[in-house]
Amino acid sequence: QMGFYQDPDNRAKMLPVSYTEWEEKAKEILAAGPFGYVNGAAGAGDTMKANEDAFKRYRIRPRICRDTTKRSMEISLFGNKYPVPILFAPIGVNSIVHCEAEVPAAKAAASLGMPYILSNVSTVPMEKIAEVMGDSPRWFQLYPPKDRELTKSFLKRAETAGFSAIVVTIDSTLLGWREQDLRNAFLPFLTGQGMGNYFSDPVFLSILDQRPEEDLKAACQKALAEGNNTCFSWKDLEYITQQTELPVLLKGVTHPDDALLAAEHGAAGIVVSNHGGRQLDGAIATLEALPSVCEAIEHKIPVLLDSGIRRGADVLKALALGASAVLVGRPYIYGLAVAGEAGVKAVAENLIAETELQMAICGRKSIEEIDSSLVLKM
Ligand code: FNR
Repeated sequence: QMGFYQDPDNRAKMLPVSYTEWEEKAKEILAAGPFGYVNGAAGAGDTMKANEDAFKRYRIRPRICRDTTKRSMEISLFGNKYPVPILFAPIGVNSIVHCEAEVPAAKAAASLGMPYILSNVSTVPMEKIAEVMGDSPRWFQLYPPKDRELTKSFLKRAETAGFSAIVVTIDSTLLGWREQDLRNAFLPFLTGQGMGNYFSDPVFLSILDQRPEEDLKAACQKALAEGNNTCFSWKDLEYITQQTELPVLLKGVTHPDDALLAAEHGAAGIVVSNHGGRQLDGAIATLEALPSVCEAIEHKIPVLLDSGIRRGADVLKALALGASAVLVGRPYIYGLAVAGEAGVKAVAENLIAETELQMAICGRKSIEEIDSSLVLKM
């Protein structure tokens, strides 16, 4: 453990350490459009801020004189064991921050054994991500298309390419009001970025009037229109769960009644998320939403959380309030922008190391030992 501090070649000397430093560095490197797209939020940014602030309203109360010499952060989800309770959140269109798009983050996740959730709107198609990840754990995120044949095609391809869970994101059937992007007139999808899974899909190509090479803009608009699925219903969720053998999680839940409806309609897991505050401005912070969702679900299915996870303390607080695992979003994208695969790996390793250290210092040696007695609300 002293290695963190004593290693003379410690990469920490070259790369940033804290989230704010990564963010600052990314701002220096990226043009205003891409930086604003990653950094921005919906409306006044109140929900993005609320996400982070909510963690500060809980304080950890450590237990002392407990043997924490042997520690493990291993968790089990849907029958698979993972080394840490942290996953890479699905983030689309990584080509705006790195020339290899999603590949470096997928490789970094693979090297750490952490599940990588590939976005539906990735620039690199899912089969290519599968190729670079080998046997390492990966999940596929779906913006449920209106077209059921396209839905089935995405699900089938994900199964064939070795993705082991499907995350249906339901908070973004319309794109939020994002002022940074409006100001920068920045929407990368209309240039073909983020279209890797659509443009490689036979069903999608069959519903186009002209191939993407002939009319790029029309093809991009068609893909976006498929995702503007504002009539998506609980029956449609049930349909998706019936089309695949894989566990289906619903991402974008903050109301306990919706969590229950999701479980009733076949969801195998819930992701309490507000898309990092990028969709509904003024919405409840995810950490505030978590306890009532967990209470409603009563351990029937796992509840995961994202939005605002920045440090080890945040991870522990989310687990204490009932999350089985957390997803981290913007931090690894800043790592990607600053230093590619090494940057993503450093961000993840720092978060893991801090979480493990914090866990030990508060007198817990495994994730099972983390419960609501760990935190007090201020
Ligand atoms: C996202 N998010 C997201 N979610 C999703 O289901 N599919 C996607 O394609 C994207 N794309 C995306 C792009 C960018 C630039 C950001 C910042 C976020 C939301 C993401 O999965 C996650 O919910 C949030 O990023 C979590 O919040 P933090 O960790 O960024 O605060």
